Amino acid sequence: MADGKSIFIFGASRGIGLGLAKEFASRGWRVIASERSRSAELHALDGVQVVTADVTDPASYEALSFEDASLDAIVVNAGITGARHQSADEATGEEVAEVMMANAFGPARAARALLPALKDGGTLAFMSSLMGSIADSSGGYELYRTSKCAQNMLAKGIAEQNAKARNIAVLSLHPGWVQTDMGSAAAPLTVAESCRGLADVLERAGGEGYAYVDYRGKELPF
Ligand SMILES: NC(=O)c1ccc[n+]([C@@H]2O[C@H](COP(=O)([O-])OP(=O)(O)OC[C@H]3O[C@@H](n4cnc5c(N)ncnc54)[C@H](OP(=O)(O)O)[C@@H]3O)[C@@H](O)[C@H]2O)c1
Repeated sequence: MADGKSIFIFGASRGIGLGLAKEFASRGWRVIASERSRSAELHALDGVQVVTADVTDPASYEALSFEDASLDAIVVNAGITGARHQSADEATGEEVAEVMMANAFGPARAARALLPALKDGGTLAFMSSLMGSIADSSGGYELYRTSKCAQNMLAKGIAEQNAKARNIAVLSLHPGWVQTDMGSAAAPLTVAESCRGLADVLERAGGEGYAYVDYRGKELPF
């Protein structure tokens, strides 16, 4: 059991966020999890406190009013694929803004706003993707890749400028390729398998520093 540890999962209506809420609740953590619109599956989880917030709407998460230093971990999981064509050549300004706000700038701003709620020595995690790695990239998925790459950059900045002084660990997590609406049924990993690994990584994290790691704790190249 996790001895009264607590976690906020931002974006938990379905997929990996929902899986993390389930996994941490089963490990005895106090779980607060957010939805944008009502998720029957999230509400069905025993002992999980559900709040409403949109990562692209600062007023929505600023209204959450967590007590200062009350959380051991925060995971900003919300994310979208972006426009179906995924092409830099075809993208409109609105499409670029949508994916960048949902996957990079929204999560970074939300994380900074929520930092006071995190305990010194706690863990702030962003759900990134190996697709955000420049070193690993084979091209394609241009909107999604650049948004997650930008998220990694912003996460590193938060680690250096906002988290270090409070001994807070900042993680950019790759969940693997997972069977969700985003990952599709073709993905090799179930939500439960990915979330068990992610929860192990989050439980082991701690102390100042930044890491870009997958659900098995393997370090990834930028
Ligand atoms: N599945 C994979 O293989 C894979 C691989 C690498 C990384 N990831 C990342 O893992 C995270 C979760 O992905 P998933 O596969 O679980 O996707 P998913 O099944 O499509 O679920 C996405 C989640 O994000 C929420 N969300 C989207 N936009 C939001 C916003 N503006 N504000 C708040 N919540 C929002 C959704 O809420 P609604 O229900 O309200 O839309 C939903 O709960 C994403 O960041 C994704 O990029 C996934």
